[in-house]
Amino acid sequence: MKDFPQGGPRHVAIIMDGNGRWAQKRGKPRLFGHHAGARRVKEIVRCCPDIGVKYLTIFAFSTENWKRTQSEVAGLMSLFRRYIQREAQALFNEGVRVRFIGDRIKLDEKLVRLMDELELLTADNSKVHLTIALNYGGRDEVARAVKRLAREVKAGNVDPERVNEETLAHYLDTYFLPDPDLVVRTSGEARISNFLLWQSAYAEYEFIDTLWPDFTKDIFAGIVAGYGTRDRRFGAVRT
Ligand code: FPP
Repeated sequence: MKDFPQGGPRHVAIIMDGNGRWAQKRGKPRLFGHHAGARRVKEIVRCCPDIGVKYLTIFAFSTENWKRTQSEVAGLMSLFRRYIQREAQALFNEGVRVRFIGDRIKLDEKLVRLMDELELLTADNSKVHLTIALNYGGRDEVARAVKRLAREVKAGNVDPERVNEETLAHYLDTYFLPDPDLVVRTSGEARISNFLLWQSAYAEYEFIDTLWPDFTKDIFAGIVAGYGTRDRRFGAVRT
């Protein structure tokens, strides 16, 4: 961390795209790419302390991903379960605090139980904050937040005249996170696909051609180092 520029991104969010194409290029089924992608997750999480990234948020499954074939969805859900089971102890030992964002209602019971257990197991860690977005969509998150807030207003606990940005942010899934400084998307697509819509209002974006299973810690370190040279003004003019 010593060699890293001050002013690097504290919170990096990643849209891990390109697993399917990576597998296709090798004549393999899409799930083969997702498995390779999961191995990269491990490597990228592990290198965060070395490159000064304190918060890492990754997009694992979107509210739109249910439209994929039933076998791909089932394969991904089983991969998430296995990832949690296999990695829980290592994540705990490495000081990673894991939390999940997204709507848990559609996820199977066993997966939700594993998610809860991992959150609990790592709750006292603070070396790296890993947030995994699972059945997550930015619009869905805002709609769920507004629903909760509306209930509080109806119950007389919140005065609608006092609702502001901070109030709404408190009801979002990410209430415990700082906003992302940098959002990275792999695989050459320049879209944000409903990821952290509210939270990335002032984030920098980096779109790179590398497919997610080829995304190494050196590539990540390069992007993080490059961020240090950007001039972020948050809408103000530098004086
Ligand atoms: C996008 O690639 C990737 C996903 C929808 C799934 C992301 C999941 C992983 C990286 C697996 C492991 C994650 C965890 C947290 C263990 P794509 O399938 O859309 O690729 P394509 O655009 O080339 O088809």
